[in-house]
Amino acid sequence: MMKPLIAPSILSADFAFLARDIEMLNDSEADWVHIDIMDGVFVPNISFGFPVLKYVAKLSKKPLDVHLMIVQPEKFIPEVKALGAHTMNVHYEACPHLHRVVQQIREAGMQPAVTLNPATPVMLLKDIIRDVYMVLLMGVNPGFGGQKFIAHTVDKVRELRELIDATGSKALIEVDGGVNLETGAQLVKAGADVLVAGNAVFSAQNPVDAIHLLKDL
Ligand code: DX5
Ligand code: ZN
Repeated sequence: MMKPLIAPSILSADFAFLARDIEMLNDSEADWVHIDIMDGVFVPNISFGFPVLKYVAKLSKKPLDVHLMIVQPEKFIPEVKALGAHTMNVHYEACPHLHRVVQQIREAGMQPAVTLNPATPVMLLKDIIRDVYMVLLMGVNPGFGGQKFIAHTVDKVRELRELIDATGSKALIEVDGGVNLETGAQLVKAGADVLVAGNAVFSAQNPVDAIHLLKDL
């Protein structure tokens, strides 16, 4: 089994010491930095916007994995691109013209990823799975860090792995929400390639060690 890629979510960082926390990630085994953008409409919370993220992007030495929990995410393709983002994750539930949005993200020079809420079935991706770089499965209802993992997500990872293998897609499987050492181990075993972790990293006594332990699953 391949070691998973680890993408700590700065939603759980200490915003009063954001630069310190980004530098900690720079010096850790984190593969990517996961960035959660919320609009208070698609999800019942607001996180941070582009004026703040400009400085995160400037400080981070790791590729940025940007997760947009907003309506009409296609409106912000230029802003996400300007951050130098590696991946741009848009929600299936926020994109009636998902194929077009995926094309636009790719044309902008980023890797397109599609995110599914817990109640959205994996099979709905059948006709787009060959066109995406990654699928992000939510392990919680999006909007907040530190929520309890929804166990059914492990079954969804297995189902998505089957869909990917059956179609010859090369899509990566990322899971976000409620990931810790225990749920992370189940997810990797089921076929997850990338683990996002907020609380499990930033509430740990030693976040660098916490990242190492997740990486070593
Ligand atoms: C939830 C966000 C997640 C969040 C995960 O809406 O998309 O990225 O930061 O946090 P934890 O790992 O604490 O569940
Ligand atoms: Zn996220």
